[in-house]
Amino acid sequence: MRGIVDWIVERTGPDTPPGEPASRPAEFAADAPGENRRYPSAPGGPAGPGGSRPGGTRPGHDVPGHDVPGHDVPGQPGSPRGDQDRSGRGRDRHGAAGHEPGGSAAAARTGRGEPALVGAAQAAAAAPPGWTAAAATTATGAASAPPVTGGADEDVEAIPLQRFVVEPQAVAAPADVAPADLTGCRFLLVEGGLGVGLALATRLEQAGAEVRILAADDPGLVDQIRAGAGADGLAWIASADPDANERAVLPGAFPALRAAALGGSRRVLAVTGNGGRFGRSTVRGGDAGRSAPGAGLAGLVRTIAREVPGLALRVVDVEVKEEPRQIANSLFTELLGPGGPVVVGYREGARATPRVTPAPLGQAADVPAGLDASSVVLLTGGARGITAAVALELARRTGCAVELVGRTAPPTAPEDPATAGAPDAPALRRALIETGIRRPAEIEARLARLLAEREVRTNLAALEGLAASVRYHAVDVRDAAAVAAVVADVYDRHGRLDGLVHGAGILADRLLRDKTAESFDRVFRTKADGARALLAAVRDDIGFVALFGSVAGVFGNRGQADYAAANDALDTLAIAAAERFSGRVVSVDWGPWGAAPSAAGAGMVSPELAREYARRGIGLIDPAEGVDALLRELAGPADGPPQVVYMCAGAGAFDA
Ligand SMILES: NC(=O)c1ccc[n+]([C@@H]2O[C@H](COP(=O)([O-])OP(=O)(O)OC[C@H]3O[C@@H](n4cnc5c(N)ncnc54)[C@H](OP(=O)(O)O)[C@@H]3O)[C@@H](O)[C@H]2O)c1
Repeated sequence: MRGIVDWIVERTGPDTPPGEPASRPAEFAADAPGENRRYPSAPGGPAGPGGSRPGGTRPGHDVPGHDVPGHDVPGQPGSPRGDQDRSGRGRDRHGAAGHEPGGSAAAARTGRGEPALVGAAQAAAAAPPGWTAAAATTATGAASAPPVTGGADEDVEAIPLQRFVVEPQAVAAPADVAPADLTGCRFLLVEGGLGVGLALATRLEQAGAEVRILAADDPGLVDQIRAGAGADGLAWIASADPDANERAVLPGAFPALRAAALGGSRRVLAVTGNGGRFGRSTVRGGDAGRSAPGAGLAGLVRTIAREVPGLALRVVDVEVKEEPRQIANSLFTELLGPGGPVVVGYREGARATPRVTPAPLGQAADVPAGLDASSVVLLTGGARGITAAVALELARRTGCAVELVGRTAPPTAPEDPATAGAPDAPALRRALIETGIRRPAEIEARLARLLAEREVRTNLAALEGLAASVRYHAVDVRDAAAVAAVVADVYDRHGRLDGLVHGAGILADRLLRDKTAESFDRVFRTKADGARALLAAVRDDIGFVALFGSVAGVFGNRGQADYAAANDALDTLAIAAAERFSGRVVSVDWGPWGAAPSAAGAGMVSPELAREYARRGIGLIDPAEGVDALLRELAGPADGPPQVVYMCAGAGAFDA
């Protein structure tokens, strides 16, 4: 579906060569506090306290994906680029356009912008000792991708769609790092209301460190980080608190974490409060009502790991009901310990990490149970892109009523004859220029809007013939009140809501060093706030809920800190919501899709990009197959896994 649109990409600066770290602020160059002082740097990463490496390994080397290729690929998703919100609204507002009409090398065609990915072989080669053992399980899971010899379209098609689940897997805790001599080291703890920061400060101070504790909403926090208050380590603990203030969690925490990652600290640890098992409780319903504290941090940190090599990074999920001192002990170990998985969790002292493992494709019925012509399904983003393909197939198979949400204004009149005859984006661009518009930014914004309207019009027309009824709501899903009003309206008119698909999402890819808080906010909130608003508005008897995530959230991706965080947040929200609803609740983390057969344009991913993906062992999901897989997933048992990954690749293709 989305293939009828050419995404015009403006690169905002030269790509970072593979493996090159994001630049550090000048004040952290050579004589930054703590730099080359107590932790003499080894190639590729800082060494441990006191000049030795705790556990004998290099903390910086537990960072996967520090050599992610792909930025030399024209139009490569994941490359730093301008706002890719196809509506053009973002460009209007932020003036990010400016490419030449007709396109250029810098105005590449691209698709959804799914991750720039690392081939399994490269990942294995890049993985340092100590990390390899943990990563290898993920990388080499039974579903490793079939060999791809390179480039030919038939290779792209040869990679079958595979299903994975993401589950906590026990992983050995590192040896106790105490007693470390931290004399002269500076740590900054961002404390919430759990008392864990105080307990951690005590341990660090006992080892000789200088510790400062600040609140997440301290107005001077970012400046303090830049000034080196946490030069040897930042522990972001406030995010684990279920009552955290909005600066403690994403997107509010982004500016401070960005400052820490880009030179403020050599170790960054963030804490989430999802029970030490990433939201999974031992008993279904056992954690109903958990608010998913820290949702999205894992996706953000996985991306930082890919963009900033040499940084010791960890996200630690904890059970906040445990003793603060016990939690602090785990954090102390993770903060100072040797390499290991970026994301770990602790429950009753046992350590785990989320592991992507192959799972059989669903064999269930081809429609969610009980769905028929009397049913009602609400789909955000459902008038365009892959979610529209789902809406169409759902309506085709069941005849259900369809309610759609998107921001594009519903087309009320036929298209202006001046452009109506232009069949595709290049022709449309020419037609717009002929109408007298000269400013490239305006041309591109008008072009994007027209293409979006066409897509919405086409899909609504197709749905008219298939669904019991179709209604389109022009609403921004970040507006919780508007979302609640839409859902209330659906219950008023139909008396029921049987299914929800949250497919709304945008991209604004840029490397961390170029990413603004505003743009992070927009990308993150579209997914996460949208999901929260929808989940709050729907009744408990809803038959199914599907949140559309991405492999970017599972694996992280250069240039997509916001998108990865947003999709990771969806995973956590789905896991939490599965505790509340009796129906099927699942976040579906998609790999890149191919163009729908009905798409008028070049397709979601250009042939060049498809070949680049294929070279890495990643195929494109055939839209019909993707939709079918989703409907089978939703038709499965209500207590099925709350997070699944669908991609035409083995897990190792995305690993590093
Ligand atoms: N396509 C892929 O390869 C792929 C891979 C992995 C994951 N996904 C996920 O699947 C979903 C759909 O992707 P897609 O490629 O089909 O994207 P798309 O074609 O760009 O469609 C995105 C949809 O979201 C809507 N939307 C965006 N922001 C919104 C907001 N604030 N409020 C309401 N609606 C909003 C857009 O409608 P308006 O512009 O009219 O608002 C549009 O309908 C996304 O969540 C994406 O992350 C896609």
